[in-house]
Amino acid sequence: MRRLAELYEPEIRSLLERSPIYAPSIAIDLSCGPGWSTDLLHQVLQPGRTIGLDASERFIEEALRNRRPELEFRVQNVVREPFPVAAPDVLFCRFLLTHLAPPGEALTAWAKQGAPRAVLLIHETESLEAEDPVIDRYYELVGLLQQHYGQALYVGGLLEALVTQSGWNIIESQRHARKAWAQNGRTAPIQSPDMAR
Ligand SMILES: C[S@@+](CC[C@H](N)C(=O)[O-])C[C@H]1O[C@@H](n2cnc3c(N)ncnc32)[C@H](O)[C@@H]1O
Repeated sequence: MRRLAELYEPEIRSLLERSPIYAPSIAIDLSCGPGWSTDLLHQVLQPGRTIGLDASERFIEEALRNRRPELEFRVQNVVREPFPVAAPDVLFCRFLLTHLAPPGEALTAWAKQGAPRAVLLIHETESLEAEDPVIDRYYELVGLLQQHYGQALYVGGLLEALVTQSGWNIIESQRHARKAWAQNGRTAPIQSPDMAR
């Protein structure tokens, strides 16, 4: 995960810098893992409180042990409401929607949990290609396995439709091509004007 954090730091930093809200009262990292993404969220947006949520107790323990003390971490299934922290202004989600089945339900839940005009910043995978056919076959099998469980490996390509259906307004959506890994991702800051209380 550290390697993942280093590789994607430029895209994620740029996504966070494009957030229409800077220095929010409360920012949440949905599925923080061991906290690398939470750390970057905190550095760039300087929230009053930065809270990482993850379903994995092990990752939350690791995050509490290794991250700076001003960051907060809680065990939470982020598809379940309510969140342990009320009305976040910024919600950030990296490499999570691909694991959720179906991903649209989570987007609807998050719109209800956010503060009025909350911003949701998303980074997900849109496609994967490899020069080695063995790796390509591996991607294909992972995609099929995820499909079996109702998940989408390439959820990035579905994002615009999913966020619109769940009531969020898209502010911007960008495709990023990464040649070294032949991985194309999509980032999108989106805003909830009406659905949040
Ligand atoms: C690929 S990791 C990404 C971690 C982090 N967002 C990052 O980019 O470094 C996916 C994370 O999603 C978490 N996760 C999966 N389903 C979840 C759920 N329903 N609620 C909370 N966390 C979940 C996993 O425990 C894991 O930490």
